[in-house]
Parts: sequence; structure tokens; C-alpha cells
Amino acid sequence: MSQCQFDYRDKVVFVAGGTSGINLGIAQGFAKAGATLAVMSRSQDKVDAAIEALKQQGGQVMGFAADVRDVDRLKVVFEQAHRELGPIDVLVSGAAGNFPAAANEMSANAFKAVVDIDLLGTFNVLRYCYDYLRKPGASIINISAPQAFIPMEMQAHVCAAKAGVDMLTRTTAMEWGPEGIRVNSLVPGPIEGTEGMKRLAPAGSLGAQRVIDSVPLKRQGTVEDMANAALFIASDIASYINGAVLPVDGGWGLGGAGQLGQSLAEMAKLAQQPGT
Ligand code: NAP
Ligand code: COA
Repeated sequence: MSQCQFDYRDKVVFVAGGTSGINLGIAQGFAKAGATLAVMSRSQDKVDAAIEALKQQGGQVMGFAADVRDVDRLKVVFEQAHRELGPIDVLVSGAAGNFPAAANEMSANAFKAVVDIDLLGTFNVLRYCYDYLRKPGASIINISAPQAFIPMEMQAHVCAAKAGVDMLTRTTAMEWGPEGIRVNSLVPGPIEGTEGMKRLAPAGSLGAQRVIDSVPLKRQGTVEDMANAALFIASDIASYINGAVLPVDGGWGLGGAGQLGQSLAEMAKLAQQPGT
């Protein structure tokens, strides 16, 4: 696959939830393009490992152990990142939680946990990083999901939360556009080898094969596909793109609620059955 050639030297990129999977892949993409990186997630061990991995690209890297639900901690983290690295040019908000569960079986706290991380967490990240963004010039990327616009059984919590994330993208794009801040969502399709796929359609399962069959390009995506989209949408080349919700999914979402909703629901149900 061809590699995007973007130059992010002298740019500061902060990735919330950037210590594994898609978000770490995005952080790697920016690090390869020369950016200074800051990553944040709950686990200090994952933060330390991500710092080590990102440093292999040769640039400056900072890491913070923090929960996107902890507003007081976020205030400290963003102030410190700004003090040490300067204004933030690119903010990626991708922390999320997911598990398949039927609406009539999950507790109120289970629903709340996902909404708190995905939706309120994204608001918290945007809100408390806002003062430290480069103005004009900053680009914010929220990581959404197909569940934001395609209803899926066993995913009421994620559908509600990610739909909220995309509306947050659109409203902040309107409010902050005049200050030169662009806000967009990237919508990953099924991305191979990630925690999200392990939870919904583990590799080698019937569910995973059904997913590949239902993608028009007949393959799962890679974290590099996501990184390339992030490098593009945060760049000057995309300087007139604001408030967009961009699928990076091989056309997976084109079938809409009928086709994709059905295949997603089937895969979530299969993920709950051992040995499928
Ligand atoms: P992942 O590896 O589990 O990534 C989630 C990241 O968020 C981790 O770094 C995790 O680290 C961090 N995190 C979780 N809860 C947090 C919290 N409360 N506060 C701070 N950080 C937190 O999952 P992934 O599958 O790559 O998914 C990444 C993003 O892509 C998510 O937004 C997901 O909804 C979206 N997405 C994924 C797929 C897919 O195919 N995988 C498809 C569509 C959308 P800690 O555990 O250390 O906190
Ligand atoms: N089915 C039903 N309910 C579940 C569940 C499952 N598989 N997993 C957790 N819950 C419920 C818990 O029982 C609890 O509800 P309760 O208090 O009524 O018992 C609630 O969700 C919160 O669980 P807890 O473990 O305390 O939450 P947490 O904040 O420590 O973790 C999660 C958040 C549950 C989302 C966890 O899976 C996580 O940290 N995920 C991050 C990684 C991830 O999901 N990556 C994929 C991204 S797409």
C-alpha cells in the first residue's frame, strides 16, 4: 500500500486514547511524518509502551496516564502538555469502550460507562484542550464508528454515544470555525487486529468472515489506512473540510441499516457464542 507523504515537523499532535489500536496507529503516522507527539490513556503501562514505540520514529514524545472521565486530571494534563510542547496543532479524540450487550440485559451503569467514555469523554477532551489549541490553524479529529448512523442490535450504548460524537463534531465545527479550528470525524470500518474487532468479531471467527464478505472492497482496513486519513484531514490540503464525518471503511456503510445493520448485529451475536 502506498504511503502518504505529509510533513508534520514543528507540529504538536495530541492523541487521547492513543496507546493502542487505531489511535496508536494514527499517532505512529504523525510521528513518522515528523510530529511531536503526546498520548494519553488510563493505563500507565500502555502509556509507557506507546512512548517507547513512538520514540522509534525519532521525535519528541510525551505520555500521560489519565481517564477522559476525570475533568480535573484533564485540566492538569493539557496545561502540562501546552507548557512543555506549545500550542496543540492536531487533537485526536479516540478513547472509547465497547462490549456487545442487549439493551434489556445491560445495567444502567453499563450504558452509562460507554456514554461517559465515548461521548462525555470526547466533550471533556475537546473542552479542556480548547484553551491550548493553536488558533488559527488547529485541526480536531474525533474517532466515530459506523454505529453512529447505522442502528445495530447489542450496541444501543455505542450507537447512542457515537451519534452524539458526530453531532459534537458538527456543532463545534460551527462554533470554533471562526477561530480557525476545524473539527471532523473519521469513521473507521472494521480495522484488523484491533481491540474493537476482537470484541465484536475475533480473527478467524465466522463473524470476521461475514464482515469481510460485507465490505465492498472485500478486506478489513488497517491502522495505516486510518493514519493516512488522519494525516490528510489534519493537513493544509484539507483546509476547507470542516464538520465532515468521513467513513474510512472500504464502503462498508453504503449498504445502510438494512445490510450493514444486519451483518453487524449478526457478528455481535456470534461474538457472544463461544467457538463461532
Ligand atoms: P483500543 O485499542 O481499545 O483503543 C482505545 C484506547 O482508548 C486505548 O488506548 C485505551 O487505553 C483508551 N481508553 C479507553 N478508555 C479510556 C478512558 N476512559 N480514558 C482514557 N483513555 C481510554 O480500541 P480500537 O479498536 O483501536 O478503537 C479505537 C477507536 O476506534 C475507538 O474510538 C473505537 O470506537 C473506534 N472504532 C474502532 C473500530 C475497530 O474496527 N476497531 C471500528 C469503528 C470505530 P487504556 O485502556 O489505557 O485506557
Ligand atoms: N456486558 C454487559 N455489561 C458489561 C460488560 C459486558 N460485556 N462489560 C462491562 N459491563 C458493565 C459492568 O458490569 C458495569 O456495570 P455494573 O456496575 O452495573 O455491574 C459497567 O459496565 C461498567 O463496568 P466497569 O468494568 O466498571 O467499567 P470500566 O470503566 O472499568 O471499563 C468498559 C469500561 C466496560 C467499556 C471496558 O470494557 C473498557 O475499559 N474498554 C476499553 C477498551 C475497549 O472497549 N476497546 C474497544 C473500543 S471500540
